[in-house]
Amino acid sequence: MVSAKCFEGLIREFKGRTPGSMRVAERAKRVLPGGETRSITYYSPYPVSITSASGPVITDCDGNSYLDILNNYTSLVHGHAFGPVVDTAIAAASEGIVYPAPHEAQLDLAEHLVERHPAAEKIRFTNSGTEAALLAIRIAQAVTGRDRFVLFEGGYHGSAPLISGPHPQVIRVPFNDAAAVEGALDDSIAAVLFEPCLGVGGVIPADPEFVRALRSHSHRAGALLVVDEVQTLRAAYGGATELYEVDADLVIMAKLIGGGYPIGAVGGSAKHLRILDQSTPGAIKHSGTFNGHLVSARAGLTALEHLTRPAIERMNASTEKLADRIEMSGRAHGLPVIVTRFGSMLHVHLQKMKPTQAAHVMHDSTDVAALHLALLLEGVFAAPRGLVALSTVLTDVHLELVATGYDRAFARMAGA
Ligand SMILES: Cc1ncc(COP(=O)(O)O)c(C=O)c1O
Repeated sequence: MVSAKCFEGLIREFKGRTPGSMRVAERAKRVLPGGETRSITYYSPYPVSITSASGPVITDCDGNSYLDILNNYTSLVHGHAFGPVVDTAIAAASEGIVYPAPHEAQLDLAEHLVERHPAAEKIRFTNSGTEAALLAIRIAQAVTGRDRFVLFEGGYHGSAPLISGPHPQVIRVPFNDAAAVEGALDDSIAAVLFEPCLGVGGVIPADPEFVRALRSHSHRAGALLVVDEVQTLRAAYGGATELYEVDADLVIMAKLIGGGYPIGAVGGSAKHLRILDQSTPGAIKHSGTFNGHLVSARAGLTALEHLTRPAIERMNASTEKLADRIEMSGRAHGLPVIVTRFGSMLHVHLQKMKPTQAAHVMHDSTDVAALHLALLLEGVFAAPRGLVALSTVLTDVHLELVATGYDRAFARMAGA
């Protein structure tokens, strides 16, 4: 779709606007492999280096500003430096930063999550979604006495061997394919790990029929159903679990529940989480220097308290409007554009076919890279692969600018 000449032009313009970021990238390469410390934030020719961010605006070291519609991959649900979160985080830091003992801020956050999430009767904190997924796996192994797992093609639960690559204990099946799940389940499977919407995989929502079948097949096979709400919690007050009315055995949470600070959590029934209670014979030992961190707990609770049902409804409605605008303007420029959406997340696919499985998504194409660069040049900060996650501080005026930014980016790609 995008000509080599157009792509080279975008790179040239990007480099012309970001000489400071180029210098930072060169310096980074001397001490960080490839110049980064988070694979997903890298893109070619080099990522912009950010120096400050406030509300919906981030500014790079060359003074370029961007409307942030990625919000640290869904975790900053109220945008950057959200006043109430900053105030609580500063207060928590001045009260000691982190304690080597339990504290009530952990309980306040745990109580909020228990009240909020249908699958969480008890909570165990970790430091990331990856750690929460690995803990859920250990719980499922201990509860069922089994040691294999069903995961989905294109599913993402973090950066660790068992959950990220091919692994002898893991069977991967296509998303939205109930028959494939049924075929993979036997008495060796401890759990099915499932995102109600493939996030990294391209914002592909689960079909409600598929979710119902998933529940009944895993139940029948004696496997736990682990719902990964790391990204989907923002879609409804009680997360996607509430939307789909699915009866989950365990839930994995992270990202926004820390208000922008590192955190993860596993929620589940008292029956399943008993295995973490040190007075239970054979209990799982699960420690972490920063589990239940004071600053994360306080900041997370503040962020969640501001993420009310009306705030979620507003963000979801804005995302729906933006998705329609992007799709319409892509088509007006004669480009194949499909936008998939779930709550306040969307993914812009530069292809004709609407994806319902990860295999349908065309990642890593020059077109996808060109759209990302063109958006940066238009002052819009989305994920290189096409993900967008709105925040509560993006107003209609900001979103109009974002829609115009997409339109102008598509015009560049169409060679207009
Ligand atoms: C659905 C899902 N689960 C788990 C994770 C891992 O979370 P973390 O990056 O906090 O380890 C992610 C991260 O993107 C995710 O999107």
